[in-house]
Amino acid sequence: RRVVVLISGNGSNLQALIDEQQHDRLGGEIVAVISNQADAYGLKRAQEAGIDAVALPHREYDSREAYDGALIKVIERHEPDLVVLAGFMRILTPRFVQRFLGRLINIHPSLLPAYQGLHTHARALADGVAEHGCSVHFVTEELDGGPVLLQAAVEVAEDESEDSLKEKVHAREHLIYPIAVKWCLEGRLQFRDGGARFDGTPL
Ligand code: GRF
Repeated sequence: RRVVVLISGNGSNLQALIDEQQHDRLGGEIVAVISNQADAYGLKRAQEAGIDAVALPHREYDSREAYDGALIKVIERHEPDLVVLAGFMRILTPRFVQRFLGRLINIHPSLLPAYQGLHTHARALADGVAEHGCSVHFVTEELDGGPVLLQAAVEVAEDESEDSLKEKVHAREHLIYPIAVKWCLEGRLQFRDGGARFDGTPL
């Protein structure tokens, strides 16, 4: 099974996936990493792991449609079974989403449907929530609104800062994203009838 990962920055989630792959635990192979930022550190991580690393800067395209068209072409060249967004900081066009619907997943730093969008940790803290976390979801045309596959929660401490909360959630992201990817590749998690379906035996 073939995986393409899209990133924009540090790529710590990408690293978690690479680590699993190197232990033969991912259930597939990351065949390419594509970044819309040429200087993304995640591209270096890919290169170091011997994975095809592609910079596709969005600034070189006139419109979102033109960029996503180019992105579709590069992705399809790698014939992926699954396209994984790992800190890819761009809103995707409906055409892109439709093209990969059901095999396109994202990780978001909140317990969806709470805190869609940006600055999730600061907003959760400002609301004084007791629990926060992260979610892996299928990508649909609704931003951060697609069906959730897997979530992990963390407790918010009394003296929690935005940074400490972010760090805690990040650690959980690195745990659940490889699991979600593996289950998708194995067909245990599927996008069916507009929702996420779990077909495997419970853990
Ligand atoms: C993560 O917080 C993820 O939830 C969000 O973007 C961030 C990416 O971090 N979608 P990294 O590049 O994987 O370190």
